[in-house]
Amino acid sequence: MGFNNWARFMCNLNETLFTKTADAMLEKGLLAAGYDNINLDDCWSLKERNSKGELEWDPAIFPRGMPWLGEYLHTRGFKFGIYTNSGNMTCGWYPGSQDHEEIDAKTFERWGVDYLKVDGCHVELQNGRTNYEEFEYRYSLWHEILTTELKKPFIFSQSAPAYFSPNFHLDKNNTDWYRTMEYVRRNGELARHSDDIKVYGNNPENIFEPGGHWESMMNNYGMQVRLSRYQSCGFFNDPDFLIVDWPDLSLDEKKTHFALWSSFSAPLILSAWIPDLKDEDIAYLTNKDIIAVDQDALCEQATLVSQDGYIDVLTKNLANGDRLLTVLNRGDRRNTTRIPLERLGIDARAPYKAKDLWTGKTSSIHHSITASLRTRQTAIYRISSSSHAPKSLAPVPTGQIFN
Ligand code: DGJ
Repeated sequence: MGFNNWARFMCNLNETLFTKTADAMLEKGLLAAGYDNINLDDCWSLKERNSKGELEWDPAIFPRGMPWLGEYLHTRGFKFGIYTNSGNMTCGWYPGSQDHEEIDAKTFERWGVDYLKVDGCHVELQNGRTNYEEFEYRYSLWHEILTTELKKPFIFSQSAPAYFSPNFHLDKNNTDWYRTMEYVRRNGELARHSDDIKVYGNNPENIFEPGGHWESMMNNYGMQVRLSRYQSCGFFNDPDFLIVDWPDLSLDEKKTHFALWSSFSAPLILSAWIPDLKDEDIAYLTNKDIIAVDQDALCEQATLVSQDGYIDVLTKNLANGDRLLTVLNRGDRRNTTRIPLERLGIDARAPYKAKDLWTGKTSSIHHSITASLRTRQTAIYRISSSSHAPKSLAPVPTGQIFN
């Protein structure tokens, strides 16, 4: 959980952006709720390495330097994240880390870094390796360096699968995408697998005009939902940032974004101007019950159990034996739906309680649960056995594939 500047500010980053973000995250209770990583993305460095071959921060935008910024974050209780690239240039055309993996890891360690995102632009093919092989080689090399040469390994965020995604490569069988997922889960703690969550609007005449963010969110949701079998404690599928201050997203849509990502146990990384977030946004982003679902000790990614018309029903097991039920209305008008508990694999004869995680209200349920949802609204319930029934609910089979 934390913050990254990219989807909101792209290359317009500087020291003040991060110090003000940290201050606001403290003040608004986001740090206390668990958002404790503050991560820089692309474009923070000088355009050339120094005479020792090291990366250097751009002093025009980071006048007090990375160790100072790291210290600023650490003393306030945050972890410090930085970005580099497995290719020889970053996507924004700054020096990448290809063939400099070791020296860069050591530099970041000296600066006090805790978390590293390694992107996948401009990867040069070497020694006869194919594109797929070069990526596997680079990300595995990073893994080895981070786990054997540092005092404490960084949290390692890998972008590799996204560069093989169905949308990126138009590979109909998605073979390389799935193969990439297999090695990233051995290498690090999280991996991006889908397109960038939309940074600009749809209007080419004015890219800052809001638009298209719901569709982008739905696209990444639709890709993530195929990948549940790769996720287990220690490795998380990353459907990209929570974009919670675009004015083209309604409050219901933003709450859906948060509820779906939490149902997936996905990283909750905000990309927004935190000082100006509204109270209504802070309220749902700090919802303790939903964060507990995101951070649940089983680390399961909810799977789709049905997709009827515009209603998606997802479920996952929770560590204390409860069951999550998430219901999304993707349609353009209100929809009411009745979900028989049998569809969740629950013994429908037993009595249960359902806690609505938005309102905190608990009610008894028998056989089914009915949700009436506004357009693009999501209901999220924690279902538990009521006192007369056996303690644990039947587990949902893991690794279910929806494709
Ligand atoms: C592509 C990544 O997917 C984005 O999240 C961001 O890191 C940009 N590159 C930076 O250039």
